[in-house]
Amino acid sequence: MKISIEKKDQHYSFEAQPGEKLLYAGLKAGFPLPYECATGTCGTCRARVKEGDIEEGWPEAPGKKGLKEDRREFLLCQAYVKEDSDFNNDTCLLGVPSAIKQFREDDLTPVHHQGEVRNWERLNAEVLQFDVVLDSAIQFHAGQFFVIQAPGIEGFRAYSMVNYEHETNTLTFVLKNKKNGAFSKWAFAQANEDGETKEVSLFGPLGRATFHPDEANNLFLVAGGSGIAGLMSILRHADVSGHFDNYSATLLFGVRTVDDVFYLAELNEMVGRYPNQITVHIVFSDHQSLAGHDLDLGRLNPGFGFVHEQALATIEPNLTDTMAYLAGPPPMIDALIRPLILEAKLPANKIRYDKFG
Ligand SMILES: Cc1cc2nc3c(=O)[nH]c(=O)nc-3n(C[C@H](O)[C@H](O)[C@H](O)COP(=O)(O)OP(=O)(O)OC[C@H]3O[C@@H](n4cnc5c(N)ncnc54)[C@H](O)[C@@H]3O)c2cc1C
Ligand code: FES
Repeated sequence: MKISIEKKDQHYSFEAQPGEKLLYAGLKAGFPLPYECATGTCGTCRARVKEGDIEEGWPEAPGKKGLKEDRREFLLCQAYVKEDSDFNNDTCLLGVPSAIKQFREDDLTPVHHQGEVRNWERLNAEVLQFDVVLDSAIQFHAGQFFVIQAPGIEGFRAYSMVNYEHETNTLTFVLKNKKNGAFSKWAFAQANEDGETKEVSLFGPLGRATFHPDEANNLFLVAGGSGIAGLMSILRHADVSGHFDNYSATLLFGVRTVDDVFYLAELNEMVGRYPNQITVHIVFSDHQSLAGHDLDLGRLNPGFGFVHEQALATIEPNLTDTMAYLAGPPPMIDALIRPLILEAKLPANKIRYDKFG
């Protein structure tokens, strides 16, 4: 089916296959449509049917809150073309509320992939690491994510890459168990089985909380739980691109207890190589001290309380030459954005984030 999208003087047309999410079809065609989570939770991809018919997809999507049914509003990341639409003759005209604009000149066009899941590794009781080996090598920007669909589970889930290579067919992900979550249950069940590889569908790379060495900034990184995933990728790209020859990084990694930490060896190794450039704080929200706990943080600094409070206590006023990357639960990110702008005087375009909502 031909989909046309218009916003003031902007007009785009692309084709969507039956069953294909309209957001993915449009992005794949090279049009920078508005989105954040790409999985139905944030509402950023709100659009309106002006002419024609679409299938709206997941009825309970949290991102649908506030959509105006009488204006035929829907989510581009959930809606798809009806199975019985006449592929050659049917058309649909959509409107979007915000301008369609490219992020950077080197934006990568996301596409559909098949991949095999391998190398399950349990990082702690609630966190798994796994690889997805794609059918061909791809590029992605550090900080980006893919959406993944497991066999028999409705809908895609967003996971950020932990690794970074200029070109690779292997994506490494870290997954925090979501209680009663369908994909989480599937992943933990797979990890407990004996090494059998499973095929998954993916779409990506996606996301704009990306690191680019040419932007020449110090890095201020704040992660809540599995939000560390994309920030590890950013640190790795900064490392291999020689970024730490000229710039520094401060990372605050928030967890609840000593049982929830992971990647301590990797972070220690990196701080060991760049002791004057990289500072890492592991911030425990459920402890007041590490006394009585059997945990050696090595070169990493302990902190106590909420990670956003520690981050604000750490940051200097009137920051210059700094890019902030925030990844984790939405309340953590919401608590940081305003003070970063008002107190640290960081321009809004120097704050990049992924809300893991
Ligand atoms: C940009 C981004 C990056 C993320 N990166 C990571 C990461 O690196 N590591 C990590 O652990 N977590 C990450 N998350 C959070 C992760 O996506 C969720 O924890 C995950 O979706 C939980 O899936 P689940 O199936 O276990 O839970 P469920 O509660 O079963 O599903 C949650 C999500 O699945 C989708 N969904 C559920 N039902 C349907 C349906 N019927 N149709 C369509 N979609 C449906 C929705 O997106 C929903 O929010 C990220 C989130 C975002 C937005
Ligand atoms: S991008 Fe569609 S709801 Fe988030």
